[in-house]
Amino acid sequence: MSLWSGRFSGKLDPQAWLLNASLPFDQRMAEQDVRGSMAWAKAIEAAGVLTAAESAELCAGLEKVLAEFQQGAFVFQEEDEDIHTAVERRLKELVGAVGGKLHTGRSRNDQVATDFRLWMLDHLPVLKSALRDLQSALVERAEADFGLLMPGYTHLQRAQPILLSHWWLSHFWALQRDVERLADLSKRVAVLPLGCGALAGTPFNIDRDKLAAALGFLSPSPNSLDAVSDRDFAAEFLFVTAMSGTHLSRFSENMVLFTTAEFGFFELSDAYSTGSSLMPQKKNPDMFELGRGKAGTLLGLLTGLMATLKGLPSTYDKDLQEDKPAVFAAFDTLTVLLPVLANAIRTLKVNPQRMRAGLDPAMLATDLADYLVEKNVPFREAHSAAGKAVAAAAELGTSIEALSLETYQSLHPGFGSDVYSVFDAEKSVSRRKSFGGTAPEAVKVQIEKAKKVIRE
Ligand code: ARG
Repeated sequence: MSLWSGRFSGKLDPQAWLLNASLPFDQRMAEQDVRGSMAWAKAIEAAGVLTAAESAELCAGLEKVLAEFQQGAFVFQEEDEDIHTAVERRLKELVGAVGGKLHTGRSRNDQVATDFRLWMLDHLPVLKSALRDLQSALVERAEADFGLLMPGYTHLQRAQPILLSHWWLSHFWALQRDVERLADLSKRVAVLPLGCGALAGTPFNIDRDKLAAALGFLSPSPNSLDAVSDRDFAAEFLFVTAMSGTHLSRFSENMVLFTTAEFGFFELSDAYSTGSSLMPQKKNPDMFELGRGKAGTLLGLLTGLMATLKGLPSTYDKDLQEDKPAVFAAFDTLTVLLPVLANAIRTLKVNPQRMRAGLDPAMLATDLADYLVEKNVPFREAHSAAGKAVAAAAELGTSIEALSLETYQSLHPGFGSDVYSVFDAEKSVSRRKSFGGTAPEAVKVQIEKAKKVIRE
């Protein structure tokens, strides 16, 4: 029998039942539902609805229900429409008629919003530690690969030499923003809807501040109408996961490129690459292709929930039930993906020669212009002279470091015989030592900063 059957004489159509039921996905909130109910029992006891004995009976029953969930012994019944119904049904089986008093002054509308927020508060740390683990893997690589040079790209064209460690850490900071967004989001998750009833509030004398504190919330929601329909926290969560997915996707796209024969910067370990059923020579970067592909799925989950929310009249509408599959899917996607990416980069082999080979001397054209700047030539003029050197080298089929001094001097009188000292990638890198730059000394500072962030 469903919780609401009193007014009905007919039964719900079986297919309508399937559409309506949320148990297949909301049973993930079983523990939270029980915890919420225990706190509610105490709150209505304090309000004089239950005697101390009744409240103790309910709590003991709820403890048993919780134990059944934890032991995997809880048996769902066909008539369990959602997790709230299932818990209440089982409670009544265990404690008898007094079980029927638990839902006094409460609605599934404030209950589900509470359970969902509790679930999120419980699981934000899980996601955070998965992000932290990938961040740690990036720092480990930055330390292990310290000193190795690689080509840095803009427009996927060779741009300037950089440290590989600097590149690894660039992804660390993107993930750091995701971690910070999760922490910021948790403040808005920790607002308690319980005690708002179906929409208008509860007529019983509930101390909602106390209830909020008992459940680990920062405060009770200030408006009952808003509280039962506010799913901003779910949408925000999906934004954070979509944003993080986008970071992982961009990182993964680089990994796919850098493991090709054409780049050859990295070789993946067998544990994190796959073969082809047809082509025996293939070693495919599937994990990173999935790292790229999952971003699309995560973005879709965000877009889907936003579209669901946008036309809803106040207050609770059943459409809101769509919030949970989206959030759970995003959570599962990242918690499966993140450790794989972390360990894939921990176990890959770097090929310093291939990265070196990518350092074309033309990538030092900016340094060539800076050389003239140091001789007091205005940057625009220096830029043009360096550009002419690149064009002259291309025309002669040689590189800018092979151009004669006469050629250089014909391009600009500021060029002297010391111009050749510019063509040193190591030197180019170590000049960029201001905060956030790619010089080894700046990257060392950055590594320390990253390690500190992880420790905190
Ligand atoms: N399964 C529902 C949900 O996830 C629970 C709330 C049901 N409320 C109601 N008035 N039917 O939103």
